[in-house]
Amino acid sequence: MTNKILIVAGDGIGPEVMGQVERVIDWYSAKRKFDVEIDRELVGGCCYDAHGVAVTDETIEKALASDAVFLGAVGGPKWDNVPYEGRPEAGLLRLRKDLELFANLRPALCFPALADASSLKREIVEGLDIMIVRELTGGVYFGEPKIIEDIGNGERRGIDTQVYVTSEIRRIASVAFELARKRDNRVMSVEKRNVMKSGVLWYEEVIKLHEEQYSDVKLEHMLADNCAMQLVRNPKQFDVIVTDNLFGDVLSDIASMLTGSLGMLPSASLGAKDANGKAKAMYEPVHGSAPDIAGTGAANPIASILSFAMALRYTFDRGACADLLEKAVDAVLANGLRTGDIMQDGMKKVGTVEMGDAILAELDRLNA
Ligand code: IPM
Ligand code: MG
Repeated sequence: MTNKILIVAGDGIGPEVMGQVERVIDWYSAKRKFDVEIDRELVGGCCYDAHGVAVTDETIEKALASDAVFLGAVGGPKWDNVPYEGRPEAGLLRLRKDLELFANLRPALCFPALADASSLKREIVEGLDIMIVRELTGGVYFGEPKIIEDIGNGERRGIDTQVYVTSEIRRIASVAFELARKRDNRVMSVEKRNVMKSGVLWYEEVIKLHEEQYSDVKLEHMLADNCAMQLVRNPKQFDVIVTDNLFGDVLSDIASMLTGSLGMLPSASLGAKDANGKAKAMYEPVHGSAPDIAGTGAANPIASILSFAMALRYTFDRGACADLLEKAVDAVLANGLRTGDIMQDGMKKVGTVEMGDAILAELDRLNA
């Protein structure tokens, strides 16, 4: 069975980091019989420049027909003034929505070699292994109305709508409970039920589902602001965190800095399983397009490469291949190689391609 991958490298450093992912994919097809057919499309600002929209219908069709989509990054100051509907992020959001990728998995794992690269003390982050499960197709990102309106007297009103229904809460919570069972069996459900009705519903529905199907998992609840604080105070208290779209966006950026750099964090966005047990999926680094370093060859490709490891694990059912890739990254870091974002005294600073070279060399060595 040939695996179908759609690569949408996007803007900024996207094409540079995805270039390294393609080399890793090639390595797996050559050395580990990973049969793959790759297609490439534009999404984001580059697509707006070419077609006047952030993603085309044709690309959405291709995405729906592939086993996995790999996205680099979208956006940049160049598109600050394009109409809201055409902004680069709209392409990413439409992919998430049209593919119904409701479950966004964002692991925050501190590699031993990077414990000193975090802005927090080594003892706070060393050994950190948490999984943020972010709801991705609902909440304030997509709720209607979403408008700016004139209300007279020179006043305007901007409205976004935070909305969740029972089934949306239950399906994301069940992803979190299932993951927890394979980890430390603990889920922290995060909302703001002290202020938000959708938070009250979230809390009640998670409790119900837990009682019905997952009472073997340890469930706790935390308000989102407290969770932000606890993530920098004592992050190792968490195992799986499950939360809504907006809180998940913010909390996962906080979590990323615990691991040393945003340049290290992969993510998987998954849909519901179909009758054959297959789920639609998109893999992307948590970092953005980093326009300040785009084109300089300095970007860290590790988040994207680790996203491919997540694809091997969650879409292609090649757990051993995923382990191998994570080991290779670990070894390269242990050998002292660093891109600028994770640079420390006494280490060797390398660029995007050299980091790719080193990871491929480690793969060869570990595979020998
Ligand atoms: C993320 C990003 C996106 C989001 C942006 C680019 C729309 O910040 O994936 O975390 O807010 O979801
Ligand atoms: Mg974000």
